Amino acid sequence: MDTKIIEIKNTDDIYEKIKPAADIIKAGGLVAFPTETVYGLGANALDKEAAKKIYEAKGRPGDNPLIAHISSVGDMELLARDIPKEAYILAESFWPGPMTMVLRKKDIVPLETSGGLNTIAIRLPASKTARALIELSKTPIAAPSANISGRPSPTRAAHVIEDMSGRIDMIISAEDVEIGLESTIIDMSDGKITILRPGYITKEMIEAVIGKGRVEFDKAVLQKPDKDIVPKAPGMKYRHYAPKAQMNIVTGDINKVIDYINKRLEEDIENKKNVGIVCTDETIGAYPLGIKKIIGNRKDEGSIAHNMFAILREFDALDVDIIYSEGFETEGLGYAIMNRLNKAAGYNIKKLD
Ligand code: TXA
Ligand code: MG
Repeated sequence: MDTKIIEIKNTDDIYEKIKPAADIIKAGGLVAFPTETVYGLGANALDKEAAKKIYEAKGRPGDNPLIAHISSVGDMELLARDIPKEAYILAESFWPGPMTMVLRKKDIVPLETSGGLNTIAIRLPASKTARALIELSKTPIAAPSANISGRPSPTRAAHVIEDMSGRIDMIISAEDVEIGLESTIIDMSDGKITILRPGYITKEMIEAVIGKGRVEFDKAVLQKPDKDIVPKAPGMKYRHYAPKAQMNIVTGDINKVIDYINKRLEEDIENKKNVGIVCTDETIGAYPLGIKKIIGNRKDEGSIAHNMFAILREFDALDVDIIYSEGFETEGLGYAIMNRLNKAAGYNIKKLD
């Protein structure tokens, strides 16, 4: 398949530029587009044949449901029923933005979009390009992250081109995403309020608008899922974001972490391994060996979230055998960062105290 690429700059008339993309969505085709979190791979959420094409293009398991993207809060009622009052409060507080709510679905949503579930995940993105595409397409757009299943989520147009060229009809190439981590997913479908996937919108932010003690994390969020801990978001049970190298996270006192990584590096390099290190502005000077990449600044968690997936892809391109990554605080946005890093490492975590 010939994949067309439309480039969008800040100064462009977005609506004019992406008309052809909306035409493709209307005709049941696939278009990758930027959002503020990661790039998405979109199709008409109400068209089951279009939804099926997403699974094919990504190589995604059929039981892993898609997120329906809308362009106005009112469209939530087109897709969902029995909407609790807290869902309206969260919509008011965090939409447009990096938050997804799981609600009970109406029949209009095909089971192909919801991965066979009777619930539907809904998000109203902040990205102007994403919203313009949804509006012009005149339908909610189902969109998972626009990566091949199992690869790191795409945060730059180049990542999407790498994974999706030849597999989809069109790629809207725009600026790098702002956040770099996928949306916070909150299950509101069963009377409780449960975070299924942590993200930029934190538990503290949610509790600030609906009351302290009302929000729980799904057990599988920071723990390795196993036969007793089955994640409620089906996608979270698959190994995600995986770089090709064997990845190790080292957590604890930062000086001990640096000493540990340096010792391991010496051994690995003696064994002729190509080794990568995920470090920070503050620590890069402490590693004499290995290929170092700065993920961000320890005082600015946003910078770490922003660069994380891009760095994992860069290490793939460098063909490293082993990656050591420093760990980060598990509070606020750090919670989401560690959730993704732990998954990327297949829960291969060394805790030093
Ligand atoms: O920021 C984002 O959410 C990005 C952009 C494109 O909007 N999208 C994204 O989609 O990350 P994806 O498919 O990579 O992740 C969707 C996650 C999966 O883990 C899936 O299992 C979960 O959402 N999910 C979707 N519908 C669900 C449902 N009805 N119940 C529980 N989990 C659901
Ligand atoms: Mg994904």
